[in-house]
Amino acid sequence: MKAIQLEQPKQFRRIDIAEAPKPGPDEALLRVDRIGICGTDISGFLGKMPFFSYPRIPGHELGVEVLEVGLDVTNVKLGDRCSVEPYINCGHCYTCRRGFTNCCETNKTLGVMCDGGMCERMILPARKLHRSEKLSFEQLALVETLAIGCHAVNRGEPKASEHVLVIGAGPIGLSVIEFARLSGAKTIVMDMNEQRLAFVRETMSVPDTILTKGDGEELKRLTELTNGQLADVVVDATGSNRSMGHALNYCAFKGRLVYVGITQSEISFLHAPALHRRELDIRASRNALPGDFTRIIELIERNEIDTKPWITHHAAFDEMIEAFPSWTRLETGVIKAMVAV
Ligand SMILES: NC(=O)c1ccc[n+]([C@@H]2O[C@H](COP(=O)([O-])OP(=O)(O)OC[C@H]3O[C@@H](n4cnc5c(N)ncnc54)[C@H](O)[C@@H]3O)[C@@H](O)[C@H]2O)c1
Ligand SMILES: [Zn+2]
Ligand SMILES: [Zn+2]
Repeated sequence: MKAIQLEQPKQFRRIDIAEAPKPGPDEALLRVDRIGICGTDISGFLGKMPFFSYPRIPGHELGVEVLEVGLDVTNVKLGDRCSVEPYINCGHCYTCRRGFTNCCETNKTLGVMCDGGMCERMILPARKLHRSEKLSFEQLALVETLAIGCHAVNRGEPKASEHVLVIGAGPIGLSVIEFARLSGAKTIVMDMNEQRLAFVRETMSVPDTILTKGDGEELKRLTELTNGQLADVVVDATGSNRSMGHALNYCAFKGRLVYVGITQSEISFLHAPALHRRELDIRASRNALPGDFTRIIELIERNEIDTKPWITHHAAFDEMIEAFPSWTRLETGVIKAMVAV
């Protein structure tokens, strides 16, 4: 069957791979219908993703159909349409045993640390499938991106009476915005790119945005928008270590700061004036939990999340290699590109 492999940075190749085997007792054989492309795939393509190894079949945002299930599978059946939770956890480490399957000590994310879904059919543990009778394959492929934002907002625990500042309005920031809004908290979005802030105001209907130039004006504007209190929850979705270090200054006293963006660099900040004086909590956010997938599917089914603005670009499987480089350029306005297998 056909597959697409990232041989090395900037080099995709159409390959033929062996047909998927019969599913084991806990597994399902799946037909891949849609693949969402995200920043992780783009960083892997550009050679900037530290967890990515080559050669690799990418694809972790998947909308799939169940073709066959193993003897012990009860959560899905032949013909079901599913979203895939792509974090393949071990199930027995200390972290998995406590239910934190999102940060298993030996987690392998599909398409990043092991081969993913950019192929026609694949085998997965059935417990990684989340079915829906209503969602399209494209919507199912979008669930994983939304799950990253859902988990990050859960980590921040905003209350309806609070202010949430989201820094970085890329796809991950946008998914954070969806759940910050659902929490009822007043949501404010900061970025250094005006095109992205315009998208937030016009398409996501979040009126309060702050264009940061790093000149101190952004703190004044945030102070005004929060009645002088600053943000109870700050979620940094930039991946910039400078922004992440600076983000403490935007937190209210007793605030929570969530790092959903990822950096390989050191983050620096002043302890006494920033962290200690305000008694802040800094929390990481990694991947998402099974319950996040279930919740998001229900929210889309009830039209509480509108997926239309999200999917901006499309390509057929055979056009993907040619189209991909254009998706790495911000000017093209790409939020989410979908590949149809
Ligand atoms: N926690 C997880 O499990 C998880 C999962 C997927 C992606 N990520 C990470 O999330 C981050 C964001 O991903 P994305 O695809 O949205 O990236 P992106 O590059 O499309 O978006 C980042 C945004 O941040 C803005 N930005 C950068 N530096 C800034 C600064 N100093 N101040 C204000 N804004 C700034 C950029 O203008 C851009 O709009 C990445 O670091 C990615 O690796 C985390
Ligand atoms: Zn992704
Ligand atoms: Zn584990």
